[in-house]
Amino acid sequence: MADLRWSPEGPNLVVRAENSDFLPSLPDGSFSLIYLDPPFNTGRVQSRQNTMMVRSTTGSRTGFAGHNYETVKGSLHSYDDAFTDYWAFLEPRLIEAWRLLRQDGTLYLHLDYREVHYAKVMLDAIFGRECFLNEIIWAYDYGARAKSRWPTKHDNILVYVKDPAKYHFDSAAVDREPYMAPGLVTAEKAALGKLPTDVWWHTIVSPTGKEKTGYPTQKPEGLIRRVVTASSQPGDWVLDFFAGSGTLGSVAAALDRRFVCIDQNPEAIGIMSARLGRFAEIIE
Ligand SMILES: C[S@@+](CC[C@H](N)C(=O)[O-])C[C@H]1O[C@@H](n2cnc3c(N)ncnc32)[C@H](O)[C@@H]1O
Repeated sequence: MADLRWSPEGPNLVVRAENSDFLPSLPDGSFSLIYLDPPFNTGRVQSRQNTMMVRSTTGSRTGFAGHNYETVKGSLHSYDDAFTDYWAFLEPRLIEAWRLLRQDGTLYLHLDYREVHYAKVMLDAIFGRECFLNEIIWAYDYGARAKSRWPTKHDNILVYVKDPAKYHFDSAAVDREPYMAPGLVTAEKAALGKLPTDVWWHTIVSPTGKEKTGYPTQKPEGLIRRVVTASSQPGDWVLDFFAGSGTLGSVAAALDRRFVCIDQNPEAIGIMSARLGRFAEIIE
């Protein structure tokens, strides 16, 4: 594994590795597109559970809303620690993403509503604010609906380019959408459909559909197809170093792009071997 060096003339790769170990072996400026869908801040979720547990504790001081103040404070502290750890994990990997992008390349960072605002600040610092291209909202309509607040049914995808004067973006290559009111436009326009905006309505991977791999965090190919068609060209190299079930690799293969997919989880490598083995060398 340590000897492996990716080469632009070489095969597509699926690599089992801790991404921070493998990324330094890749040369600067090699990828037109990097799509990243990192695990969410699971440490925070864990700490949130801790915070809720304080409701049943007793202590010397009673604080806000009748909860034990010292325990709440202690839990909040661990919440902050988990948060700090998460960003300490992500930041060096985002710096690597910047290094690995070609001068006309684009990063898509897929997060949820709890993380995205912090990530925006971090990416502004790494790329420069002028390199921010879009925040895409992926809206879906699945699962239970909270009654105590607006049900959260979207993910956020931040898009940054390495060079705002030179990046590749091909809106003509992207699939078009039906008009909401086709009667208000000409028949010709209605038949052509409209360009997607920065809000993408798309179903999640159907639990019974043929796209489903069984990987719990698998993203729909339709979503990633837009990313790949808009921000890369046939023959380009694309990279996903939180690859999971290998959705980016699958879309890249279908659209004649070349890919490197990295994941540290043996289960992900098993699924990617089945899904992408025909198109890629598997390095375990
Ligand atoms: C949200 S999933 C990605 C899902 C993927 N987009 C798909 O469509 O299947 C995040 C992935 O990151 C991987 N991962 C987390 N930390 C990693 C690390 N340090 N190095 C490599 N892979 C990592 C996990 O194993 C997991 O498969």
